[in-house]
Amino acid sequence: MVKRRTCVFISGQGTNLKNLISHSRDNSFPLKISLVISNNKNANGIIYAKINKIPYLIINTENHNYENIVSVNLKKYKINFICLAGYMKIISGRLLKNFKKKIINIHPSLLPKFKGLNTFKRVLKNKEVKTGCTVHYVNNKLDDGDIISKKFFYINSKDNEKTLKHKTQILEYKAYPEAIIKIFSNY
Ligand code: GRF
Repeated sequence: MVKRRTCVFISGQGTNLKNLISHSRDNSFPLKISLVISNNKNANGIIYAKINKIPYLIINTENHNYENIVSVNLKKYKINFICLAGYMKIISGRLLKNFKKKIINIHPSLLPKFKGLNTFKRVLKNKEVKTGCTVHYVNNKLDDGDIISKKFFYINSKDNEKTLKHKTQILEYKAYPEAIIKIFSNY
């Protein structure tokens, strides 16, 4: 199978990046992680690029030229698919135009509920019965775009923000690769 050359955008821990790298070692997984971009020079996730000898780029989104730098590097590494994994920045119109329906994101809630930050706190405050994660295509709005798949679990009375985060992340490690396989099984 011809694997899509993929760039993963991160800002923090990078555990989803780590998980995607691990899945990409499987010959039948549709992606090869060919580039990692972080907008945070201190992001822990950069370590997974280093360990796995994947080229990485640290960008400064305050730099007016940063979109150009991103575009040049996506071309340089022949990237044709993008996964956001904890990337804390809205993707620009230009990138969206060049990668129509080729940028996906994972969000720790059952979208369209609880877009944005502090999802677990708001889920608890709202006394939700269940929560989970959503994989979706990216558009120019925050945590919006067509939904590819969702996974959920039921919340119990002992749950707090920490346990919800933990349970959600465990789900994410299944949901993200499964959604990617689903996308490319339709091609
Ligand atoms: C994940 O919970 C993801 O849903 C959200 O940001 C978090 C990133 O975690 N978009 P990590 O950096 O992959 O560990």
